[in-house]
Amino acid sequence: LPLRLFLAVSFLAAGWDKLTDPQFFDSSAPGYIGAQLAGFAGQSPLGGFLTSVAVPNATIFGALVLAGELAIGLGALVGLFSRKAAFFGVLLSLTLWLTASWNVTPFFLGSDLPYALGWLTLLIAGAHPVLSLDGQIQKWRERQAVINEATTGETGFNPQEQAEVARRRFITVAGATVLAGAVTGVAWFKSLEDRNVSSGTATGSGTGAIGQANATSTAPATTSAPATAPTNAPSTAASNSTTAAAPATTAANSPTTAPAKPTTAPTTQVAAPAPKGVVLTPLSAIPVGSAKTFTTPGTGEPAIVIHEADGSVKAFSAICTHEGCEVGYNKSSQVLVCPCHGAQFDAKTGQVLRRPARQPLKSFQVQVDNSGNIIFVQG
Ligand code: FES
Repeated sequence: LPLRLFLAVSFLAAGWDKLTDPQFFDSSAPGYIGAQLAGFAGQSPLGGFLTSVAVPNATIFGALVLAGELAIGLGALVGLFSRKAAFFGVLLSLTLWLTASWNVTPFFLGSDLPYALGWLTLLIAGAHPVLSLDGQIQKWRERQAVINEATTGETGFNPQEQAEVARRRFITVAGATVLAGAVTGVAWFKSLEDRNVSSGTATGSGTGAIGQANATSTAPATTSAPATAPTNAPSTAASNSTTAAAPATTAANSPTTAPAKPTTAPTTQVAAPAPKGVVLTPLSAIPVGSAKTFTTPGTGEPAIVIHEADGSVKAFSAICTHEGCEVGYNKSSQVLVCPCHGAQFDAKTGQVLRRPARQPLKSFQVQVDNSGNIIFVQG
């Protein structure tokens, strides 16, 4: 009974949350179901299905999940069609595990797998014999059988029917046990695999990626200098970076260094190497303190490029490292925010500012070329 109530309330809350979320069906919002599904697609074993079927019909899929959660929750709450509700609860939870939670490591931090096994338990056990509508209906049937026996003399006992019920119960329990074992096994092996992968790349995708971002941030200081130098007067620095290339254009932030030699700026413009890569957008298309989403050339991964307040440009994967929703840029707080569970990331480094995400966002190397275009640097 406690498990049934917990599952029921959780599913009702999840359905209600979607129903009252103004972003869920709004295709222009970062919390749009289509954006979430697209975010899941890149990391899910059901990625092909999501991309080709679910994302193009995102609203229908969103509505089905919403209605499913409410119907399952309601059925479990009152104990009507309890086993059917539990069956669909298993299905929905496993689907969410294979999509939304697939990237959560270790596996026991994801919520959908425990939900699936909770529903599986309810599928085996059924609802409480008294505190459920199913139980009341069963009691009524039994009373009717007693009355029938008293009036007609028929016992209503059918050995074949009883054997069939026992056979179905055995199949249900055996199937559920095998399924639970298989799912737990998959989760366990995937978790081990993920740990191997992350221990092999943690430095690369964490420190290394941040290193890339730093390199990117210094490069634009050089390449974007021509754009900023004329407007900022000779004393203005485009950045307070102390990189080797920057000093030519960036004397310092302090006005006391105003008498910067006017001959240095042209020297940098000539020397700046043209970065190689794919043009994303002109820098001027992104106002300072704003961001734009894009898909990475080649892999098509959702990503976001930010024109920082200090003039530098940063780019990160837009896929939240918690459960794969697409993050958005919050202008006022200047952080990257995940609409699903509220994780926040530093817009300069991609580091986690607020859980539940634990891993930083993947960063991409971008530069601004002499024409003022943001270049997605390859390799
Ligand atoms: S998916 Fe959970 S916080 Fe982003």
